[in-house]
Amino acid sequence: MEYQYLIVEKKNRVGLIRFNRPKALNALSPELMAELGEALEAFDADPEVGAIVLTGNERAFAAGADIKAMANASAVEMLMNDLIQRWETILHVKKPVIAAVSGYALGGGFELAMACDMIIASESAQFGQPEINLGIIPGFGGTQRLTRAVGKALAMEMVLLDRRLSAEEARQFGLVNHVFPVETYLDETMKLARKLAHQAPVAVRLGKEAVNKAFELSLQEGLAFERRAFHLLFATEDQKEGMAAFIEKRPPQWKGR
Ligand code: CAA
Repeated sequence: MEYQYLIVEKKNRVGLIRFNRPKALNALSPELMAELGEALEAFDADPEVGAIVLTGNERAFAAGADIKAMANASAVEMLMNDLIQRWETILHVKKPVIAAVSGYALGGGFELAMACDMIIASESAQFGQPEINLGIIPGFGGTQRLTRAVGKALAMEMVLLDRRLSAEEARQFGLVNHVFPVETYLDETMKLARKLAHQAPVAVRLGKEAVNKAFELSLQEGLAFERRAFHLLFATEDQKEGMAAFIEKRPPQWKGR
């Protein structure tokens, strides 16, 4: 599949998706987001892919939703076309998705990164919700996922005053897994993704789903979900193999069933 706004490739069971609108700092236009939805769905369905990496370039992961594409939109157009709905594809991906972020991750760019399962940042990464400067607020989770990560006080400053986070600050708040120099952040992300892609696939899928439930359900419901998933894994060949391999002191051979 050929894309106009993305560069997509497969390497060692990792699906790599790069935003490719460098002149617009990878502004997330409706066309780009439609392609991203297709690329994510294609990798999620591809048995040769076990993990997905989403990235931009050194200067910008993405500087937000495309302002030029929505500057003249009416409220009714925004509501009826609900372009943000297409963004939700990322929330339905079953395989782990890592954002490799360098430079600007602003507005919708930051929100998209927060919708991934992990974020690896370069030292130059800068995270923020500058929508207030445009007379709007975040529209893809920037008031919700961010607040859960950094707490009310800082979230208010970020959403109302455009206070930005450095890579190191974002790591301290648990938004970012690791920070690496600009020269190596993408290689390090690919290494991590390769590891993820070689774990037991059914357990990875249920583990991801269960951790995400912690943000959506009450503790009691979340624990019940976890227990069901835990029991279900005993129906897999991989559970038998994983435990036999441990007892026989050899590496496991996962089958994904
Ligand atoms: N949408 C459209 N185009 C954008 C863009 C965006 N979000 N961000 C940058 N660009 C374009 C610029 O218009 C410019 O294009 P031209 O050369 O054609 O003028 C090009 O990218 C380079 O940008 P700058 O000249 O502004 O570069 P800079 O280095 O001076 O500044 C920046 C970089 C601080 C990131 C600045 O571009 C900026 O503030 N961008 C907007 C950030 C923003 O407000 N994002 C939120 C968008 S709304 C949103 O995301 C809603 C949501 O929650 C879903």
